[in-house]
This record gives sequence, structure tokens and C-alpha cells, in this order.
Amino acid sequence: MALVTSTEMFKKAYDGGYAIGAFNVNNMEIVQGITEAAAELKSPVILQASAGARKYANNDYLVHLVKAAVELHPEVPMVLHLDHGADFETCKSCIDSGFTSVMIDYSSHSFEENIAESKKVADYAHDHGVVVEAELGTLAGIEDDVKVEAGNESYTRPEEVEEFVSRTGVDSLAIAIGTSHGAYKFTPEQCTRNEQGILVPPPLRFDVLEECMKRIPGFPIVLHGSSSVPQEYVKIINEFGGAMPDAIGIPEDQLRKAAQLAVCKINIDSDLRLGMTAGIRKHFVEHPDHFDPRQYLGDGRANVKAIVAHKIKDVLGSDNKI
Ligand code: G3H
Ligand code: 13P
Ligand code: ZN
Repeated sequence: MALVTSTEMFKKAYDGGYAIGAFNVNNMEIVQGITEAAAELKSPVILQASAGARKYANNDYLVHLVKAAVELHPEVPMVLHLDHGADFETCKSCIDSGFTSVMIDYSSHSFEENIAESKKVADYAHDHGVVVEAELGTLAGIEDDVKVEAGNESYTRPEEVEEFVSRTGVDSLAIAIGTSHGAYKFTPEQCTRNEQGILVPPPLRFDVLEECMKRIPGFPIVLHGSSSVPQEYVKIINEFGGAMPDAIGIPEDQLRKAAQLAVCKINIDSDLRLGMTAGIRKHFVEHPDHFDPRQYLGDGRANVKAIVAHKIKDVLGSDNKI
């Protein structure tokens, strides 16, 4: 199977009450960890590249790494998606180089500018057999060069989604319901503490999601900023020389609930970074004599694979959906 678009994946996911994982890729080990887990669990998967990833690895390397994964796992439906495309030109260059899906992220611009740029991308993409995700509302955190301070994020306004979707013709819509990018999604002050003293983040705004669903029934919704920041990996990082105090993510039961509703794509990057970093940090401390990158990168890759497998089985519910 060649790279596919997400159209059929999202339809099945919507009807089946599960979501497809969209995992960020930056190098070979990450591509391998993700796709090996997807293949073993018979799960469709989305591999996504940000502007930063395209700059770091070079666009052509990423496209070819993903195409190699497609050749090795022909039974796995895979999408190559541009994450947070800044403008039409960026989206066009990805479409022209083989991506099957792009995100145009004009969410920090006005409603009318967002509609105009998203429609321009959708028209070009559809002429080339590519699908488009756009965003309404803004998440806190850093998206490439756009940094939104906590407190300045804005939830999606459900009254805008129908007009946005019909005027742009986009294929999926990212909404803001309280997730955010990075490994520090909430300050301790925003959280409560349970009986064991563990920080519990504020719940996602399911009322906003449900209101959006009512207005665009059957339309695939996307959640960005959906890493859970698994504490076992944060602990390893901190035990082996790192310093990530108060790293906190979205509880997995909330993501599971979103996947059962209209959320068809769940974006995860930070958790893979934590897995890779934990593997490498631990390796260096336990084997100070090692200097072969295959040894420590191999441990990082194994963690990426384990994390993706867990997400597929226990959070997204996309296993055995090929
Ligand atoms: O949305 C943000 C993603 O985690 C990508 O991050 O821009 O540092 O590659 P990046
Ligand atoms: P996390 O930082 O929560 O992994 O979010 C990733 C993301 O939304 C990529 O677009
Ligand atoms: Zn994002």
C-alpha cells in the first residue's frame, strides 16, 4: 500500500469510536519505533512533520524515511502529514513533495484571514488528492515560532465551526478544549492534588467538544497537545541526571473519552521525546563506557515503540483496525 490520505481512516474511526494517533517524526529511530508498533498492533497511523522537523532532518529525508516504513509495512495504512503549516507556501511545498495531508494553522490570525488561507490551501490540496486540517481557537504552548502564554489561549467558539468548515472546505478541524503543547501543560496552581498528593489537571472542556459535534455532525475533530507526559518516564529522566520538575500532561482517560466522541486524530509528540530522552539518559548513566550511537539510540527507539503501542491499545483504541 502506498501512503494514503486520512479520509477513510477518519470515517472508520468516527463510526467505530476510536482515534488515529498522529505522532511527530524527526529522525529514523522515531519513524521506526512508531511504525513497528503500528504494524505489530495492526493499527493505521499518521506520521507528522513540523517545520522544525523539516528544517532539522531535511524534508526529503523525512519523506523517504516514511516511504521506507511504508515499503516495510505495506499492510499498515500510513499518512504523511504536515503539522502546523504556517502558510499556503509551506503547505504547497509539502503537497508537491509527497505529503498526503497538510495542516494550515492560521488560528492566530483573524477568523476571515483563517478562512481565506485555509480555503486557498484546501483548493490546492484537493486538486492534488491531498486532505487538509485547519484550526479554530488557540492552544497555550509553543507551535514552532508562535508562543501562546498560558492564560492567553482561547477555546474554540462552537458557533464558528459550521461556517468555517463550509466556507473553507477543509477535511478536519483542530479545536481548543484545554490541551496545550509541550511537557508542562499546567502549572501546579492550575491543578488540584489527590489524596496521594499527585497533581490532577483541570478537566478538558467536553462541553465545547460536544457543542462542536452538534453543529458539524460526522465531521472529524483533531486534538493537538495531547501528550500525557507519563510520569514513569519523567521519573527516569529526573533520576538519571535530568531536571523536569512539575512536567504534567493530559490524563489518558480524558483522551480515551475524546476518542470515543468525534475526535478522530490525536497529536502526540512530547511523550515520544520523553521516551527517547529517558532511554538515552539511563543508557549513558548505566554504561558510561558506551559511545556507539546504535546502543543508546536503540534504547530510545525501544521506548518510543513501547509508548506508541500503549497509546494504540489503551488510549486511542486503534489496534486491529487495518
Ligand atoms: O506542535 C508542536 C509539535 O510538538 C512540534 O514541535 O515545532 O518543536 O517540532 P516542533
Ligand atoms: P504534545 O506536545 O502534547 O505532544 O502535542 C503535540 C502536537 O500537538 C503536535 O502538533
Ligand atoms: Zn500541535
